[in-house]
Amino acid sequence: MKVIDPAEHPVPYVHRMLLGGVAPRPIALVASRDAEGRDNLSPFSFFNAFGANPPVVVVSPAYRGRDGSAKHTFENIRSAGEFTISAVSHPMVEQISLASSDYDRGVDEFVKAGFTKHASEIIAPPGVAESPFIMECRLLRHVDTGGRPGAGNLMIAEVLRFHISEEVFDGDVIDPRKLDLVARMGGNWYCRANGDALFELPKPAHNGIGFDALPGHLLHSRLTGNELALLAGVAELPPAAMAHDRWTAGLRDADTLPFPLPEDVTAAIHLWNDPETTAEELVHALLGCVRSCLSAGNLDLAWTCAWIADLETVSRLRADA
Ligand SMILES: Cc1cc2nc3c(=O)[nH]c(=O)nc-3n(C[C@H](O)[C@H](O)[C@H](O)COP(=O)(O)O)c2cc1C
Repeated sequence: MKVIDPAEHPVPYVHRMLLGGVAPRPIALVASRDAEGRDNLSPFSFFNAFGANPPVVVVSPAYRGRDGSAKHTFENIRSAGEFTISAVSHPMVEQISLASSDYDRGVDEFVKAGFTKHASEIIAPPGVAESPFIMECRLLRHVDTGGRPGAGNLMIAEVLRFHISEEVFDGDVIDPRKLDLVARMGGNWYCRANGDALFELPKPAHNGIGFDALPGHLLHSRLTGNELALLAGVAELPPAAMAHDRWTAGLRDADTLPFPLPEDVTAAIHLWNDPETTAEELVHALLGCVRSCLSAGNLDLAWTCAWIADLETVSRLRADA
């Protein structure tokens, strides 16, 4: 791994490291209003939510890298103390990119980028009607992280109102498949949260036994970190003896079991019964069974195969048979 001390590099380089590695970042399309009542709209990806009671978000309009001047968004929020954040969905991405242009103070990027204003309930600046999710925010605190070119301004704000499109919200849960949000990566890259990019991972229902409780032959096998994490997520270590019994019973009855075995488990059993198969080949086949049982969600059978997938165990059980 390359080790980089940010103090030894120019700011644009450090900026590139952050943008590349802290990703994907959600994008806040921030609308603010100046003292003369003119609206301003710009995207910011140094943004996130931090706590729900009260609901708090932070967005960071940095001092401009080229001359250290303040961005209009920052000046407006600092003086008015309020702003909206609209989430950015894929059908809006070209428009938000246009809104990020360096227009003069007083230029309304709603107009420049072709967005429609959605009236707020509590504060003056409007949200973006094309967005599926808008927050009305009031500034709680401003933290200046350096006052130099490239330094951030953490605008810590409380969310006063959510406005959520009924097309993505059933009144209880927001459906990520319908939101189609985009996020910012490093360089000119964006990413789109839809299709295969979305997947569900239920929260652990209990404390898992952990990697430190896994048998060494699994820890040092070709199973991936994700696969080992599934095995380490069980509440109790399944007894090895039970797995050995189940495996040997399965061998006897593989073709007469009242339930079907996954294809590669049946294949591993046939290999097991073939005297030409070496112990190494069996371990390889059994680890394949662990992998396919895990991806099929059959943790029980995965653990049975996992307990057998060890050179010493394979040799002993075959010798006993
Ligand atoms: C997707 C995206 C994300 C951005 N994120 C930030 C950010 O987090 N902080 C920042 O200072 N500028 C960010 N920018 C650049 C600002 O949008 C840009 O400087 C804009 O002109 C600021 O407008 P303003 O002076 O009207 O506030 C981003 C630009 C894009 C396209």
